[in-house]
Amino acid sequence: MADSEPTISKGLEGVYIAESSICKVDGQNGRLYYRGYPIDALAKHSDFEEVTYLLLNGRLPKGKELEDIKKQLASARDLPQGIIDIILEQSGKADPMDTLRTATSALSAYDPETPDMSPAANMRKSLRIISRVSSIVATIGRVAAGGKYVKPDDSLGHVANFMYMLNHKAPDKRQLDIMRDMFIIHAEHSSNASTFGTMVAGSTLADIYSAITAGISVLKGPLHGGADEAALRMMKQIGSPENTEKYIESALAGKQKVMGFGHRVYKAYDPRAKIIKAYLISLQPGASQELKTYTAIALKAEKMMVERLGASHGIWPNVDFFAGPVYTAAGIPVNLFTPIFAASRSAGWAAHMLEYWQNNRLFRPLEKYTGQVDLKYVPIKERE
Ligand SMILES: CC(C)(COP(=O)(O)OP(=O)(O)OC[C@H]1O[C@@H](n2cnc3c(N)ncnc32)[C@H](O)[C@@H]1OP(=O)(O)O)[C@@H](O)C(=O)NCCC(=O)NCCS
Repeated sequence: MADSEPTISKGLEGVYIAESSICKVDGQNGRLYYRGYPIDALAKHSDFEEVTYLLLNGRLPKGKELEDIKKQLASARDLPQGIIDIILEQSGKADPMDTLRTATSALSAYDPETPDMSPAANMRKSLRIISRVSSIVATIGRVAAGGKYVKPDDSLGHVANFMYMLNHKAPDKRQLDIMRDMFIIHAEHSSNASTFGTMVAGSTLADIYSAITAGISVLKGPLHGGADEAALRMMKQIGSPENTEKYIESALAGKQKVMGFGHRVYKAYDPRAKIIKAYLISLQPGASQELKTYTAIALKAEKMMVERLGASHGIWPNVDFFAGPVYTAAGIPVNLFTPIFAASRSAGWAAHMLEYWQNNRLFRPLEKYTGQVDLKYVPIKERE
């Protein structure tokens, strides 16, 4: 009997892969919830450790639980020398995302629990990897700037310590507020490409280091995590607010994608972009000339894109559009944007693995074969 004609969902659009209680993305209304809590409330009131606890455990922590997770994350921060050596060796040769991928993969060698797939060991390893991915990203940035490895400071919170390891200086309040919000906003986003990539690797019962390394690989591309860097590079290329209209006109006329716009799920304004935009505007008093220029370009481009493609095509600014100027205000170099996204998202990737492993099934989709069959093998000499 001939196979029935399969329906192909290109890019898996509209395909549900699992049940999950971690994150709801309401793309029609532009709403985002972590474990039921609106992202705006978490960005306003929470910190990264609390959000990590929430994602991994399904509820907000009580006082002692928050203290414990802070201690667990802090105690894993220091990087083994072998990981520092990888970063030193690759600095100046590899893209920071490539170094992050390699160093994260190598972390498995320094964790005696790597092969232990029990839920308790997976929770402990998740905290260690979340902690250390941030240390790796900070060290990549530190070494790229000509500095040496900075030992973590256990008296600082996760994000403050990240900034300390990056700059060998504790952040000021403004930098800390920005980075705390960016870490919270990027921590989770349901079954996006990198989370799915993580889950595909993890569904083979490969360990959490393998799974998160896969997530980092998937995050790298400009259609996903790399869009924040691409959006800022675009603003740099535009150069001044007066050039914005011409640039956007010509991009749209040439059917070029404008980075930082559009989303597979959001057909309304991305709520994360709204938070970051408000932040950017709040940073204007006392802003540097560079930040003022980026802001003016971003607001002009946003207005044009929303007028042309917003309500009519469902193409709105996404989380990546305003992120670059805000990171710039915190002194973050452009090629660390995507690695920082990974440092934050490692919490969401781990949460998804812990949930999926409770009821694991190997991912194994199908493809419609369009080639030939039963060809006769021709020896190489007869192929001329
Ligand atoms: C994110 C993204 C990949 C999702 O897109 P998708 O669901 O796969 O949709 P497509 O890429 O097929 O785009 C659908 C249509 O919208 C247009 N479109 C999508 N994003 C666009 C953008 N940023 N600028 C201009 N046009 C865009 C496409 O050109 C296409 O038009 P067409 O139907 O006339 O060919 C896409 O919007 C994109 O590439 N955005 C830029 C990269 C980015 O910011 N990524 C970060 C996401 S958080």
